[in-house]
Amino acid sequence: MVDVIAELEKRRSEAALGGGQRRIDSQHAKGKLTARERIELLLDEGSFEEYDMFVTHRCTDFGMEQEHVPGDGVVTGWGTVNGRQVYVFSQDFTVYGGSLSATHAQKICKVQEMAVRNGAPIIGLNDSGGARIQEGVDSLGGYADVFQNNIMASGVVPQISVIMGPCAGGAVYSPAMTDFIFMVRDSSYMFVTGPDVVKTVTNEVVTAEELGGASTHTKKSSVADGSFENDVEAMQEVRRLVDFLPLSNREKPPVRPFFDEVGRIEESLDTMIPDNANTPYDMKELILKIADEHDFYEIQEDYAKNIITGFIRMEGQTVGVVANQPMVLAGCLDIDSSRKAARFVRFCDAFEIPILTLVDVPGFLPGTSQEYGGVIKHGAKLLFAYGEATVPKVTVITRKAYGGAYDVMASKHLRGDVNYAWPTAEIAVMGAKGAVEIIHRADLGDADKIAAHTKDYEDRFANPFVAAERGFIDEVIRPQSTRRRVARAFAALRNKKLTNPWKKHDNIPL
Ligand code: HXC
Repeated sequence: MVDVIAELEKRRSEAALGGGQRRIDSQHAKGKLTARERIELLLDEGSFEEYDMFVTHRCTDFGMEQEHVPGDGVVTGWGTVNGRQVYVFSQDFTVYGGSLSATHAQKICKVQEMAVRNGAPIIGLNDSGGARIQEGVDSLGGYADVFQNNIMASGVVPQISVIMGPCAGGAVYSPAMTDFIFMVRDSSYMFVTGPDVVKTVTNEVVTAEELGGASTHTKKSSVADGSFENDVEAMQEVRRLVDFLPLSNREKPPVRPFFDEVGRIEESLDTMIPDNANTPYDMKELILKIADEHDFYEIQEDYAKNIITGFIRMEGQTVGVVANQPMVLAGCLDIDSSRKAARFVRFCDAFEIPILTLVDVPGFLPGTSQEYGGVIKHGAKLLFAYGEATVPKVTVITRKAYGGAYDVMASKHLRGDVNYAWPTAEIAVMGAKGAVEIIHRADLGDADKIAAHTKDYEDRFANPFVAAERGFIDEVIRPQSTRRRVARAFAALRNKKLTNPWKKHDNIPL
């Protein structure tokens, strides 16, 4: 008995060393942690239950039959984040560069399937040279199995990917189908074809960092939802995100203890809107003043900054926030912001997270680049996402809500549950200047007449009361009381039940 236990411990120690001390040192020298060190930081201390530690590859080509590394380049299992269950796989770059063999894929598939069956999020820590070259098509088949599981898990359990090293070729498509992708700055990259192929095919000279580093994917492509300084920060921030999310679509989001007064009055909000309608202000200030303990977890912070998306808590319950940002492009909706917000709204709806929408939108951004780029279809994504969402929806219009963008931003007409406006709200087809230039074109040469028409239009339409008279706005509220009003609205909606007509699935304009 003692002998077999000693044998088990010996095998465990060998497996824990992955590709060996030399390769571990090389990983550390690159500023990266090992697969196991990352799991230790991600999960609660001592909570990790590992599976398949002794799995090895079955390849017999290229001399592979001579060497077998237990675990085969990926560490898998489950553990807890602040006491709540999550499944995890962490690719081990010290074993064949974390490359994916048939058995490596089987290990990932096993925890993906367990996550779906048992109703817990799955977190993938990616650090891999891609398909295990020695295994050829077996590896490609393994990738496709992982992809299929990503698709089946979508909308059932939250899926989070962290890119912590290379992620190239078709391998990028597994993270791409998960709910959130995070990257580590300077040590991770993602691309479908690398710099050498790019040079051969298009003659472009580009570095791996320029082509697919964290900056590219958080600012330009929007493939990634955020980036972190190093592995430690990445693991801490993923833990923070998990705290906001439900374990699966069978559960409500977690309600955490809160230490903030629900009725907290923020007098500064009464003067937040500048006198001049064209002067910007920072919408993030409002989000922070509404949130429990001023805590906001922003998603896609560096992309399409004219719209803000992220999670707050109200009375301890997770709320997804979508807010126009007047500081960027005057808060206009455009292609990028519509896509960004639509995906976020759909995530919230899939996982029963109520949505708070803060509106200050002068309309859709005009221009050939927008029209040629398909703003009609991309704008429709956001409209569609809001309209199909059945979760509680509370909307606050702070200033402008013009034209089609008024409809899109969780208006009453798209089944907004509680729609508030500040007294500073202007709900109209368009701004006064544009409106007067169209309906009083004959008077355009007469400055006095135009000024009078503009004043008349502003008096009649640049306010929330026309919409409130029609019931499109449920109440005009004092800005200082916004936190209390929004919290009470969500409280009233806790038992909301709304179902869409049966269908196989919808056909959102992709
Ligand atoms: C087998 C691999 C490997 C791979 C790396 N290694 N990639 N083994 N299959 N795909 C091994 C190396 O032989 C080496 O082994 C160890 O991992 C570390 O690799 P290095 O090259 O020394 O590391 P580094 O200099 O950091 O470069 C990392 C790298 C490079 C950029 C990822 O290894 C690389 O370019 N690898 C090949 C990438 C690739 O072409 N993959 C296939 C893509 S196609 P030793 O024993 O020396 O430690 C694909 C299709 C997926 O993935 C399709 C899905 C549908």
